[in-house]
Amino acid sequence: MSLSVYVHIPYCVKRCGYCDFNTYTPGELKNGSESVAAVAEGYVDALLAEIRLAHRRLGRREISTIFFGGGTPTLLPAEHLGRVISALEESFGLTSECEITTEANPDSVDADSLVKLRRAGVNRISFGVQSTKAHVLQVLDRTHDASRVGAVVREAKSAGFGSVSMDLIYGTPGESLDDFMESVDFALSLPIDHLSAYALIVEQGTKFGAAVRRGELLMPNDDETAEKYVKLDEKMALAGFDWYELSNWSKPGHECRHNRAYWLSADWWGLGAGAHSHIAGVRWWNFKHPQKYIEKAASESSPSAGNEVLSEDEKSVESLMLQIRMREGITINSLTPEQRSMLEQFNSRNLFESESWSAGRLVLSLEGRLLADQIVRELLSSGD
Ligand SMILES: C[S@@+](CC[C@H](N)C(=O)[O-])C[C@H]1O[C@@H](n2cnc3c(N)ncnc32)[C@H](O)[C@@H]1O
Ligand code: SF4
Repeated sequence: MSLSVYVHIPYCVKRCGYCDFNTYTPGELKNGSESVAAVAEGYVDALLAEIRLAHRRLGRREISTIFFGGGTPTLLPAEHLGRVISALEESFGLTSECEITTEANPDSVDADSLVKLRRAGVNRISFGVQSTKAHVLQVLDRTHDASRVGAVVREAKSAGFGSVSMDLIYGTPGESLDDFMESVDFALSLPIDHLSAYALIVEQGTKFGAAVRRGELLMPNDDETAEKYVKLDEKMALAGFDWYELSNWSKPGHECRHNRAYWLSADWWGLGAGAHSHIAGVRWWNFKHPQKYIEKAASESSPSAGNEVLSEDEKSVESLMLQIRMREGITINSLTPEQRSMLEQFNSRNLFESESWSAGRLVLSLEGRLLADQIVRELLSSGD
């Protein structure tokens, strides 16, 4: 079985108010005087040490997808990402169609760095655009404005990226339906092949979460958020993009194979600070702080901070939660008898597509996609 590799780059120029990902700004690093460039080389050396460790553990096993996520991977010079790709290629080998993605903030790349990323071997790029409306970007506390977005997408295409994706967020306080649809129209006016759109999650412990708690920012109600999803899905279909997972749409052949590997519970190794891995039913996670991670990995010890072996029940719960969100859905036969006995009531609410239902598969209808979390909760509580 081929392997997927996630590479975490835990640095950002500034923390967006809503984000609680494992990422650090220059001011938060070590004594506060470190720049990202100053620590990057040590971090990449540690990633190379972890690749050697992975090779000792797994032996040679071809890699079919690599994903640089963050943080902001494109804060590192492209050559650094290239060193990681080359080390993975030497140790494991890459499949001929290996998908190599990097996430990028629109203000972290330019025409020149995009060409360098292509030369380093990256062939797919995902831009965190979130919105094209200035007042929404301001609430999200993003560093970019929308003016560079069109240019970077076109520059990525000219640089030869095979797939260009964009991330949008909907449901930001103060974002109207028209605001969101304008962002979608703008995205669709550009040469993208893939779009991810996530409803904004209020993370406790973030600046944004605190403002919501104090009542300074008002989250939209579920109906407003659902209306945005329905309108988005309609527009995406008209523009030739199919949904292949609840929050992801692509032109044919441009689905993100790396994310599909996660959702299908394939094997992946997560390199870097705080990264999670999943190999043959065992899950483990690395030390979160980059300095601790560097100390561990660079001394050729394991940077793992903990692990767990998934029981058969945990594996089934996880597969259900992930796969029910996918366009292929799940087979009715894979459900427990208790879960199967609940299906009639879902069917009477038109939550699943009728054709797939007749063929023995559960595929969420549009109504079902809006209620996916509730459906999963009800199915999982059926055995209680
Ligand atoms: C963690 S970021 C990494 C890539 C890059 N730094 C960026 O911001 O696009 C990946 C995606 O997660 C999204 N994200 C982070 N926190 C989120 C939240 N609380 N709710 C919804 N999406 C979130 C970001 O907006 C971004 O599109
Ligand atoms: S740029 Fe991306 S990773 Fe960094 S803080 Fe913002 S959303 Fe989080």
